[in-house]
Amino acid sequence: MQNEFWEQRYAEPGLAYGDKPNAFLQRCADQFRLGQKALVIGDGEGRNGVWLAEQGLDVLSVDLSTVGLEKARQLAAQRGVTIRTECADLSRWDWPEGEYDHVVIIYVHFPPDIREKIHHQALMALKPGGQIIFEAFTVEQLEHDSGGPPVKEMLYDEPLVRADFSSGEFEFLQSCVEHLDEGKYHVGDAAIIRARIRRK
Ligand SMILES: C[S@@+](CC[C@H](N)C(=O)[O-])C[C@H]1O[C@@H](n2cnc3c(N)ncnc32)[C@H](O)[C@@H]1O
Repeated sequence: MQNEFWEQRYAEPGLAYGDKPNAFLQRCADQFRLGQKALVIGDGEGRNGVWLAEQGLDVLSVDLSTVGLEKARQLAAQRGVTIRTECADLSRWDWPEGEYDHVVIIYVHFPPDIREKIHHQALMALKPGGQIIFEAFTVEQLEHDSGGPPVKEMLYDEPLVRADFSSGEFEFLQSCVEHLDEGKYHVGDAAIIRARIRRK
């Protein structure tokens, strides 16, 4: 069901969330070093994974959608970089452990029955000292029409994010309302939460 939703969205012409990286990810540029390994989960059409590859990182993008990942590889080719892609449901994926310098989770909203475990696995996929870069909509996003799932159970808040990543060290955590301009599906003022969380 979820899978069909994303396949249809990405079958539309153009890029649903644009071809520019997420602004928070871009703001974390000083965290990235040539040759570091980044796992980008729910990377969709690849705007974030491709940008990380352009920064010289070794990128694996994982997503449910074959159509999205095909577009991600095309975007990489247009930009003259390479990313590895894997089509998988992250709730059933054979997660790596201790392998990545960065795990990027940008607007990937999981239902409550799988969310906590996936977030824990994302943290464990990091090398000690590696970090999660995270952005998502908060429950307050129900008052806006600028994107995200219109379902309270799939939206987040600070206690939830703190609890899901409680074994990590929060270096940054912010909830705010900010103007999004990401393709055609994230446009307008939005209630969001951002975090950088380091594996101890
Ligand atoms: C709102 S889109 C965001 C895409 C991308 N992160 C971006 O910011 O442009 C959410 C993405 O999460 C992916 N996704 C949702 N649930 C997933 C799951 N269980 N396993 C793998 N990917 C999933 C969807 O296929 C979709 O590409």
